[in-house]
Amino acid sequence: MSLFLESLQLDTASGTPLFRQLYAAVKHAILTGVLPAGMQLPPSREFCHRLSISRQTVLNAYELLLAEGYLSGTVGRGTFVSVDLPDASDAPDRIAITGKRGVALTNNTRQGTPALSKRGRQFVDRASLAPVHQEKTRAFRVSMPGLDVFPFDVWARLEARRWRHHEDRLGYGDPAGYGRLRELLAVYLKNARGVNCNPEQIIITSGSQQALYLLSTVLLDPEDAAWVESPGYRGAIATLQAAQANVCHVPVDHDGLNVDYGALHYPDARLVYVTPSHQLPLGMTMSLQRRLALLAWAKQGSAWVIEDDYDSEYRYSGAPIASLQSLDKNDCVIYVGTMSKVLFPGLRLGYMVLPPALVAPVTHAKAIIDRHTAIVPQMVLADFIAEGYFGRHIKRTRKLYSQRQAALLDSIQTQLSDDLSCGASDGGLDLAVHFKMQHSEQAVVNAGLAAGLELRPLSYFLSPDAKEVSSAFSRGLLLGFSSLTEQEIYKSCLVLRDVLRSQR
Ligand SMILES: Cc1ncc(COP(=O)(O)O)c(C=O)c1O
Repeated sequence: MSLFLESLQLDTASGTPLFRQLYAAVKHAILTGVLPAGMQLPPSREFCHRLSISRQTVLNAYELLLAEGYLSGTVGRGTFVSVDLPDASDAPDRIAITGKRGVALTNNTRQGTPALSKRGRQFVDRASLAPVHQEKTRAFRVSMPGLDVFPFDVWARLEARRWRHHEDRLGYGDPAGYGRLRELLAVYLKNARGVNCNPEQIIITSGSQQALYLLSTVLLDPEDAAWVESPGYRGAIATLQAAQANVCHVPVDHDGLNVDYGALHYPDARLVYVTPSHQLPLGMTMSLQRRLALLAWAKQGSAWVIEDDYDSEYRYSGAPIASLQSLDKNDCVIYVGTMSKVLFPGLRLGYMVLPPALVAPVTHAKAIIDRHTAIVPQMVLADFIAEGYFGRHIKRTRKLYSQRQAALLDSIQTQLSDDLSCGASDGGLDLAVHFKMQHSEQAVVNAGLAAGLELRPLSYFLSPDAKEVSSAFSRGLLLGFSSLTEQEIYKSCLVLRDVLRSQR
């Protein structure tokens, strides 16, 4: 239900009254099975709070739904989705409901119209788990690289050269990706991350999201258990749920994923998703002991481990830690990487390094899903790496982001230390900060928005299905710093200070 609530957005600029929009959204969710028969709706005040609308608006919508038989019970005593639903034949062909992220949901349950599959409904239901930002970047957007220093002139020159000398390479290509790029990545990953692989084990994907989707689909049957970190990355959870896996939330502590907890509560899991270099969102590095424990458990239970190494290029202090894959003696770790942090997310280039036994199945799946990732960006990236620009860009941005992080740490220390304490700061593009006072995350986010800040609450990364809250978790925010200049960081921290003070 909370996912449904999160994905709801009413359009205040629309001519349709808000209660009508809410009525249509709830009705649509009932008809498509997102809100199943018998489910209790949240109290009206929760709708008011989430959507910033009046209680009367909610009551009007509920009244209509009760009158039409979609809901039963009474407002105040508990309202439920009716078990005997009215005939849906009066439902309009398309209900113009726009999900929070701009996804138009189509009502295809009109009588005689085929319905979505269970899997299809998972995509609708889980849409809010894989949101994308399309608005202009502002403080404190998370996980966003600094595009102010990306060498677009170089990229444009390399791309133009590729177009001039395209020869006959613009037909269909290898589903696993452009061979030269895979060779270069194998060398880079060996040197930078200790990854053991040959180029044949690398598959280029459309961002790491596609790698996670392919792996969830190829490795899991419906209802198979899969561990994810709690709190953890919603993009990975979404792919697992789309594959109809039984997602098991395993708490993290200061050493990373709590392997003992997972082994005790979910011993039959077939897959583990983990961010060992830099846990999202809390930022700790998984200890060596935990890494070894995870690999031992995976070996004994014949489980796969997906290592998402999304931003490991950015480490500012502490000893660099080699990848989990480099410790794997059992060919159970799949290493996943992305260009979204080190270059830019719109490029949509990611990759995975597969154990030999998975190369053929995953390559076939990739071919069936989209034949292969667009070839020209892969060629340009290969040139960018081969001609030294990639290495230079990493070196330059590592220094720059470290300065930007230092500016953020300094601002917090000098301006915000009454309200915030900082989490791990060894690396990455974001910093987790924790409230020292009893601030409400949602109230701070709303006040931040009104003051022009984009704030991501830490509980965004907690699933309502998680049975236990991580000992390393406490309320706070994840602040992105890498895309902001030092001046912007100092200025925005002053705004954040006022926001936090106003909410004490
Ligand atoms: C943990 C994690 N993995 C991967 C990604 C990158 O995803 P993609 O490669 O699909 O852009 C992100 C981006 O925010 C992330 O936070």
